[in-house]
Amino acid sequence: EQWFASRTELAGKRVLVTAGGTVERLDPVRYLTNDSSGKMGFALAEAAANRGADVTLIAARTTAPPIEGVKLVRVESAEQMLEAVLERYDSADLVIKAAAVADYQPVAQAAAKIKKSDERLVIELERTTDILKTLGERKTHQFLVGFAAETEQLAQYAMDKLARKNCDLVVANDVSRDGAGFNGDTNVVEVFGEEGLIESLPMLHKREVAERLLSRIVLRMREKAA
Ligand code: CTP
Ligand code: CA
Repeated sequence: EQWFASRTELAGKRVLVTAGGTVERLDPVRYLTNDSSGKMGFALAEAAANRGADVTLIAARTTAPPIEGVKLVRVESAEQMLEAVLERYDSADLVIKAAAVADYQPVAQAAAKIKKSDERLVIELERTTDILKTLGERKTHQFLVGFAAETEQLAQYAMDKLARKNCDLVVANDVSRDGAGFNGDTNVVEVFGEEGLIESLPMLHKREVAERLLSRIVLRMREKAA
């Protein structure tokens, strides 16, 4: 089984990658976000571009620098990410949803800075739209790859997300493990398909994880098309 890249194996394919942590504003100077660095998503976008794909990277808050040869679309909130992804979904061949999308957003966004008072402040949150689930419902020809960030029962939750969101593959990482997940340069992931666990990767640099994931994805896309 090969996992090295050919420069052309995704030539002619349109790839959408989402990355980073969404930012949900409370007022003009305050927001809710998460620990995602965006590095995994950026590495995946680069790995897809290295294989000749036409890559658009939709990035929320991130510390990663832009990638040469990859179109970068910056967004802030889950709502903006949804819009940016849907706009490009029909023409996409492969969608990789590596972003850490907020599950909740403030019900109200104050137009002016919230002033303090002596009372307790209660912030009401409502659910965001599940972007990946929406894509799964509208899937026609696209190959859909989701992520699952878990701290327990990795396989069960990953398989549940795969089915619920109609994904072709789910990349699961145990974010409570050393060397895995949100902020570091390495990750430890397992890949799930409809038949269950497909591949467990050792702790690797995120660039290497991305290369191996893309090889797996390409294999699966070919199988699906055959
Ligand atoms: N996701 C999304 N839109 C959301 C929330 C999540 O597209 N509003 C996507 C993420 O980008 C990821 C996958 O769904 O690819 C799984 O995200 P995760 O947070 O692990 O799962 P959730 O379904 O949000 O469930 P929970 O956080 O309760 O585990
Ligand atoms: Ca979530």
